[in-house]
Amino acid sequence: MQLHISPSLRHVTVFPGKGVRDFIKVKVGSRRVSYRMVFYSLLFVTFLLRFVFLLTAMDTIDGETKCSTVGCAGKRIGPRIWGRRLESTVPEEIYRILEEPGSQEEIQVSDVPQSLEDFVAEMKNNRSDAKTFAVKLKAMVSLLEKTTREAKIQEYLYRHVASSSIPKHLHCLALRLANEHSINANARLQLPAPECVPYLVDNSFFHFVLASDNVLAASVVASSLIRNSLHPEKVVMHIITDRKTYSTMHAWFSLHPLTPAVIEVKGLHHFDWFTKGKVPVLEAMEKDQRVRSQFRGGSSAIVGNNSEKPKVIAAKLQALSPKYNSVMNHIRIHLPELFPSLNKVVFLDDDIVIQTDLSPLWDIDLGGKVNGAVETCRGDDKFVMSKRLKSYLNFSHPLISENFDPNECAWAYGMNIFDLEEWRKTNISATYHYWLQKNLKSDLSLWQLGTLPPGLIAFHGHVQIIDPFWHMLGLGYQDNTSIADAETAGVIHFNGRAKPWLEIAFPELRRLWAKYVDFSDKFIKSCHIRPS
Ligand SMILES: *[C@@H]1O[C@H](CO)[C@@H](O)[C@H](O)[C@H]1NC(C)=O
Ligand SMILES: *[C@@H]1O[C@H](CO)[C@@H](O)[C@H](O)[C@H]1NC(C)=O
Ligand SMILES: *[C@@H]1O[C@H](CO)[C@@H](O)[C@H](O)[C@H]1NC(C)=O
Ligand SMILES: *[C@@H]1O[C@H](CO)[C@@H](O)[C@H](O)[C@H]1NC(C)=O
Ligand SMILES: *[C@@H]1O[C@H](CO)[C@@H](O)[C@H](O)[C@H]1NC(C)=O
Repeated sequence: MQLHISPSLRHVTVFPGKGVRDFIKVKVGSRRVSYRMVFYSLLFVTFLLRFVFLLTAMDTIDGETKCSTVGCAGKRIGPRIWGRRLESTVPEEIYRILEEPGSQEEIQVSDVPQSLEDFVAEMKNNRSDAKTFAVKLKAMVSLLEKTTREAKIQEYLYRHVASSSIPKHLHCLALRLANEHSINANARLQLPAPECVPYLVDNSFFHFVLASDNVLAASVVASSLIRNSLHPEKVVMHIITDRKTYSTMHAWFSLHPLTPAVIEVKGLHHFDWFTKGKVPVLEAMEKDQRVRSQFRGGSSAIVGNNSEKPKVIAAKLQALSPKYNSVMNHIRIHLPELFPSLNKVVFLDDDIVIQTDLSPLWDIDLGGKVNGAVETCRGDDKFVMSKRLKSYLNFSHPLISENFDPNECAWAYGMNIFDLEEWRKTNISATYHYWLQKNLKSDLSLWQLGTLPPGLIAFHGHVQIIDPFWHMLGLGYQDNTSIADAETAGVIHFNGRAKPWLEIAFPELRRLWAKYVDFSDKFIKSCHIRPS
């Protein structure tokens, strides 16, 4: 069999093969040709071909007698459709129906053949005419399209849920530790010990800040940082968490001290700055949540739009997710207020692993800039390193296009050096909130997801690019990251959905993270957290 499509897409010709001299020539005509049209034509021709084949075969093999196969359908509809003259063109009526804009409402789903077999059976039993044939065919294809589309949306959402919900074993760990906190005095030790408290504000130490509500993730960041440190006795790690995670986090680090490093665990409610007066970040989040819940008419309206691509629908639904709006993500914009006595800190995300001594970060000259970060538009990994401002901000919006250059390189959160002294001279935090407001007022049309876009705006002109060695990105959204590259990077970042503590993690890359989990620990063991 041969299929020939003319370059102009006006003719689709099928040669059924040797021995059958007749062929079907489908003239698409001079009307506008869409891919959808070609698809229908091909599908249709494929059906037609089966009938023609069998029809011809039946005629020659066993004449006109027994009639129990698909061929009969061909014979019965045959004359009505193309009146035995196989080389004739397909009736205009069929095209008219196939080309009509979709009107699925007319047809009840129960009337639509669910498979090719049903379709053939129906054509066989009823003496269908060309119109019915085309209507049914079209309904069947439309139904298949609809089902496929729904399955796609489901798939994208599943991946989202898999990446944002708390897995059972992490939940277990949190509960056990919270319980330990209430029954075991050793899990409630003051952190850090009283004699270390002065170090918390001593600028001769290396201060790291980690904001997290995930105790397992935080434990890996802390132990990888300290195990690879050349001077652990000079490391102070400030762990910030929320109220609900506080006792869990506190219990873990009380029972698993990383001496000689100094670890501080603090709930947001312990910060003076946070508890007194108006906290812009909380206010902004509250408004943000309100706007998001009504965003584009809410989730049902988003799913209801049939002309939107499944991937876009999933992205829109994701924009409603509280995950992208957590205090833990927004809090870094208030580092100068949270740590009023510190001059310089390194802020770490909880989805990273540290593989080298990080004290040289304090020797990097930030040239008066506030934020030392790696850029994300240059590098061997074209897939990960392709992020410019236009990847995050909506340049169709005049507020964005008037103020920023779409091709400017973006930078990454995850491991940033913040010069708090320089920061205090700017109004970066105010700018951040100013733009958050703008975005809310314009119904999230400046950007939709996450805290990086407002960060890109607020830190604009205040960023010093640092060597990519210090922060390798992309381990959470593709598994073709070279293991050798990942092993030699100073810090690796599992940004993306496939977090190393989730089942959807990439096994090879997960090893680099799992190395810092003590699987023989009684809490880890009792919650069935396993190396792979
Ligand atoms: C066609 O045949 C099916 C059974 O194969 C039957 O249920 C249906 O009512 C028939 N339709 C028409 C229009 O005759
Ligand atoms: C559905 O999506 C299309 C394509 O993005 C858009 O043009 C249209 O306005 C949307 N319809 C509704 C009702 O939101
Ligand atoms: C602070 O921001 C405002 C408005 O965004 C701007 O007019 C002002 O110049 C900024 N001040 C400093 C010190 O950058
Ligand atoms: C981008 O901005 C334009 C202009 O305001 C707006 O029409 C469009 O919906 C925005 N795009 C998104 C994805 O929000
Ligand atoms: C890595 O994987 C992604 C998606 O699976 C692909 O698009 C990309 O081309 C791959 N990159 C390399 C360098 O193979």
